[in-house]
Amino acid sequence: MSEKELQYSKPSLQGTITIPGDKSVSHRSVMFGSIATGRTTVSGFLLGEDCLSTIDCFRKLGVEIEVDGTNVTINSAGIDAWQEPTEVLYTGNSGTTTRLMLGILAGSSVHTVMTGDASIGKRPMRRVIDPLRQMGAHITGRADGQYTPLAIQGTTLQAIDYQMPVASAQVKSAILLAGLRAEGTTIVRETEVSRDHTERMLRQFGAQVDVADGVVSFKGGQTLTGTHVSVPGDISSAAFFLAAGAICRDSDIVLENVGVNPTRDGMIEVLQNMNAAMTMERENDGGAEPTATIRIQTSTLKGTTIEGAIIPRLIDEIPIIALLATQANGKTIIKDAEELKVKETDRITAVVDELKKLGANIEATDDGMIIEGPTPLHGANLKTYGDHRIGMMGAVAALITDGAVTLDDADCIAVSYPEFFEHIEVVKK
Ligand code: S3P
Repeated sequence: MSEKELQYSKPSLQGTITIPGDKSVSHRSVMFGSIATGRTTVSGFLLGEDCLSTIDCFRKLGVEIEVDGTNVTINSAGIDAWQEPTEVLYTGNSGTTTRLMLGILAGSSVHTVMTGDASIGKRPMRRVIDPLRQMGAHITGRADGQYTPLAIQGTTLQAIDYQMPVASAQVKSAILLAGLRAEGTTIVRETEVSRDHTERMLRQFGAQVDVADGVVSFKGGQTLTGTHVSVPGDISSAAFFLAAGAICRDSDIVLENVGVNPTRDGMIEVLQNMNAAMTMERENDGGAEPTATIRIQTSTLKGTTIEGAIIPRLIDEIPIIALLATQANGKTIIKDAEELKVKETDRITAVVDELKKLGANIEATDDGMIIEGPTPLHGANLKTYGDHRIGMMGAVAALITDGAVTLDDADCIAVSYPEFFEHIEVVKK
């Protein structure tokens, strides 16, 4: 944990950044490559700590994984060839690793024990384990499986027809991955559509998945075959520079390789609704995940309301959207976002408390927050709560504050964006 003082003196931002790989897609590329038979090659992999945790877990299961820069090669003889690990699988800070691995391991033929860091130890796991138990999974853990450490004895599973109680791609993906090994057709019903990287990647690895009107159906017993995965840039990382470009003076930046999957692009819609000076050129590369180049310039922003079905499409962007709203004219209301309370930290409390320290006019509500802008921000000592996205929100704020911002722990940013501070130096003028 290292403290970092940020004294940027209100720079202008100019230039181009290539956005590093998407965290969700990077995790899944290693998971799918390990389940599949044959060789999988991945380009544009995110070398964030969360994704490295995923690689480490599969190596402990005996899968051969080589990392060469952002290229990863996975050689697997398939899920039935995995070895029972002699060590605990350590998932670090990664909810995606922990929850998706539960679904994968439940239908494997090995016994595993899984644990993570202090933040993971507080995050609810029953949302995944309850449906997996309905499928026949043998999972035990602290507080009857609500918290890590968890022990999973792989077994034969039966398909379920599951109505999702919350919009969560991690829960949906865990069920679908368990469904791969289950007898019968697994059906997951979503009221609000969450990110669909799992469905897209299942198809890429040769499986047939049907999706219609928020209902995903997937026949068990299908086998996956190794393939190539090209990881798009992470829109959740790009979001910090989209916000920075809009709120810093005299700025004009270009972000290349931004993943714009329609289940992830809520931030783009919000920027448009807030009147941001933004243009976007979609690339037509025919890959499984669409990408775009986005240009953003200093903007005169207006407040907006963010609620309902858009929330899962921008759930990880809410901390930086809150900062953006402090610089917009009028009121921004964020509702229906109670899921923020069970992220890496309680992001409603963390965002509101830290932005208040900088002078923002922001109040927490039961399911979100209300921000009144614009307010000039001043320096302060901020806490990150070990949460990468709270850390990056503080660092972007430091670009517009009078006086220095100090982060108590800047290291946590490496969870999703190890090059973040280097990229600030690239565009800062
Ligand atoms: C993720 C899904 C989201 C998101 C997380 C990554 C994924 O979580 O917040 O950062 O890769 O499936 P939930 O599924 O819990 O909403």
